[in-house]
Amino acid sequence: MVSKIAKLAFLFVTLLLVFSFVAACGGSKDTEGGLEGAEGEVKPTNPGGPGEAVNLTGNATAGAEVYKTSCASCHGEEGKGGVANTGSTDETVPSLNPIDPGLVSSVAKTYVTNIDLFVEHGSTPEGSGPTLEMTAFGDQKILTSQQIADVIAYVISLNK
Ligand code: HEC
Repeated sequence: MVSKIAKLAFLFVTLLLVFSFVAACGGSKDTEGGLEGAEGEVKPTNPGGPGEAVNLTGNATAGAEVYKTSCASCHGEEGKGGVANTGSTDETVPSLNPIDPGLVSSVAKTYVTNIDLFVEHGSTPEGSGPTLEMTAFGDQKILTSQQIADVIAYVISLNK
């Protein structure tokens, strides 16, 4: 009788250990995925708020032309990346197709704003001395607000 109870207790403890081990592994994986998918974690190094472009309706077809002349040299054809950037930690300019998940949002205006902050104010990548920096197209008045809205619409369309 006593040995039966002891066997059952042993079985119970063993099962408990197995379950808590499985739960611990599964749990930590969930946390990692959640953090990676967090919205709005990617911000430019240069300060400043959203520009007028976020209040305009962008035209992706017009934006494709803006992209060719103003963005493709650094972000690659159709945003596919692969452009070297020596002196930066990443060693390449980030691709925009696919775009960093930290810039994506299910809320349309937030998604537009996350991209707009880079295009308005520019950004310097991490590293000892990056050859290429993101240009402040808005602050330097290189593009109009409408052109910025159009190129943002184009970049979003590439990621659909
Ligand atoms: C002179 C090169 C250059 C040009 C031209 C350029 N960019 Fe960039 N861009 C960069 C670099 C370098 C970064 C990375 C900045 C950082 O890490 O802080 C970047 C970052 C970005 C980001 C953030 C991406 C991410 O994953 O962090 C967006 C969005 C972006 N650029 C959009 C554009 C658009 C749209 C245009 C054209 C209007 C453009 N860029 C033109 C060099 C450039």
